[in-house]
Amino acid sequence: MNGPSRTIGFIGLGHMGGPMAANLVKAGHRVLGFDLVPELLATATGNGVEAAGSATAAVTAADVVLTMLPAGRHVLGLYQDGGLLAAARPGTLFVDCSTIDVADARTAHDAAVAAGMRALDAPVSGGVPGAEAATLTFMAGGAPAEFAEAEPLLAAMGRKAVHCGGAGAGQAAKICNNMILGVSMIAVSEAFVLGERLGLSHQALFDVASTASGQCWALTVNCPVPGPVPTSPANRDYTPGFAAPLMAKDLGLAANAVREHGVPAQLGLAAAQLYADYAAGAGARQDFSGIVRTLRDAATAPPPAEPTSDPKDGTAA
Ligand SMILES: NC(=O)c1ccc[n+]([C@@H]2O[C@H](COP(=O)([O-])OP(=O)(O)OC[C@H]3O[C@@H](n4cnc5c(N)ncnc54)[C@H](O)[C@@H]3O)[C@@H](O)[C@H]2O)c1
Repeated sequence: MNGPSRTIGFIGLGHMGGPMAANLVKAGHRVLGFDLVPELLATATGNGVEAAGSATAAVTAADVVLTMLPAGRHVLGLYQDGGLLAAARPGTLFVDCSTIDVADARTAHDAAVAAGMRALDAPVSGGVPGAEAATLTFMAGGAPAEFAEAEPLLAAMGRKAVHCGGAGAGQAAKICNNMILGVSMIAVSEAFVLGERLGLSHQALFDVASTASGQCWALTVNCPVPGPVPTSPANRDYTPGFAAPLMAKDLGLAANAVREHGVPAQLGLAAAQLYADYAAGAGARQDFSGIVRTLRDAATAPPPAEPTSDPKDGTAA
């Protein structure tokens, strides 16, 4: 075990929280878990989590409280009206791993401190496969001592933890990173659709851009067209991967922060709108790279019947 055994109250045992709690048990920690969904609590119990009868019951004996919840209102609701801050022992460390608004994260941090607790925001990237394999990346915001105390627990659930700064800095890093990702996936998808109209093969554009200045994760790992990267979701009919509704959620949080701080992030705001529309329609159950199909369908001119250039020598066919 990395560090001493701790008693952890874990609230929210869904797609991410379930496997994260199981990995804490595997690392030798005592985990008292709670979720509103009884089936999820039963699955967690099968993985060695001790089922608590309520959220407050999960935290009364805890050294550290971990939350993995859908949105800021759930975190703030549980901390305050749900009584978590009142039920925990003074000085308990509250680590929120959910992806929530930066402003909500700061409010949660302040509420925890006002109640005599300590707090860290530590959202993750890596998705369900990363949660299961304990290879998540954590982005943390809070005081150095709080980060140092949480680090062995984060190491049991992930492969990397970056201390990004004070309260809310972890959430800030998460939404800034995902704004880069959302914008770059749209840029890569637009380039493939334009290339199709210009008679350029997917492989030719990939071979150039992946080794030139267009290279980025959206292209080289999560390539939105089938073929060039056999492991990308495009090769399995856009089964996620990183589901479009989660990208829409994260870009919505980024857009809130962009507007609140008057940042001229036109591409970030456009990406947030494009993903909100995609996730509400065809993308509801698809990987976020499937947005290439929506962009292709919106093109007004039909694609050329045959490629117009020979990929071997670049001359017109
Ligand atoms: N799924 C992903 O790939 C992924 C990746 C990175 C980050 N995230 C973030 O992680 C968080 C969790 O995501 P998820 O996919 O596990 O969501 P999820 O909906 O599967 O899990 C959330 C769980 O919280 C529980 N919950 C809600 N309110 C509760 C309450 N008052 N008391 C107890 N339990 C309560 C729900 O029953 C649910 O099981 C979200 O903020 C999400 O944005 C998800």
